[in-house]
Amino acid sequence: MTDTTQQGSSGASGQDSASDWLDPSFLRTHFNNKSILLAITGGIAVYKTCTIVSRLAQAGAQVTVAMTPAATEFVSPTTFQALSGNPVYTSSWEHIESQDPQHIALADRCDAALVAPCTMNTLANLVHGQTNDVVTLILSAINKQKTPVLLAPAMNDTMWNQPSTQRNVQLAIDDGFTLVGPGVGWQACRHSGTGRMSEPQVCIEAIAHALGS
Ligand SMILES: Cc1cc2nc3c(=O)[nH]c(=O)nc-3n(C[C@H](O)[C@H](O)[C@H](O)COP(=O)(O)O)c2cc1C
Repeated sequence: MTDTTQQGSSGASGQDSASDWLDPSFLRTHFNNKSILLAITGGIAVYKTCTIVSRLAQAGAQVTVAMTPAATEFVSPTTFQALSGNPVYTSSWEHIESQDPQHIALADRCDAALVAPCTMNTLANLVHGQTNDVVTLILSAINKQKTPVLLAPAMNDTMWNQPSTQRNVQLAIDDGFTLVGPGVGWQACRHSGTGRMSEPQVCIEAIAHALGS
């Protein structure tokens, strides 16, 4: 695999093939009964997150999906509800569960969280303590010293190379987030460069390593 994982993760083990990380029976040994938060933000790469949610659910993980309003413009919450088998959180003000406050209960419950895709905007929000949507609100309540939070950035290569993005990446690493990718190659804007979201198997492997397995 050519993708990179920065800080706080061992990355590829070198012992398993890339296809293993999409095989539900192989994944079961890493994810059965694990509680994984999939935080989804508004980029074209949301389609890749469908595969991540599907494979983790098949592997026996309890997958909770939270989406920003922008993310719901790309793929419907109904798709993620069907793939995860659980309600999807799209608003801080809609309380699906009786636990109050809901965002604290969701943060406490998860064993690991992955933001995929992680937009330029959400990256900036996360490193500046902004909690204006349900994704950043839940993530703000996770203690990263106990629960790994992984970010899979996805954006156009010019957006990725902006000084503000690069400053925010460094802040994210300093704050204890683990970055997965981004990858290099073809982008939805019909450019080739750095900023592609890492492939689903790379993201899944990175979560497994962050969980210590
Ligand atoms: C068609 C389209 C594709 C987009 N793709 C991306 C993307 O891949 N990465 C990104 O950072 N922003 C992308 N954006 C911009 C974000 O959707 C926008 O900044 C939004 O406010 C992000 O909100 P969120 O971070 O709360 O999800 C795209 C916008 C449009 C209209």
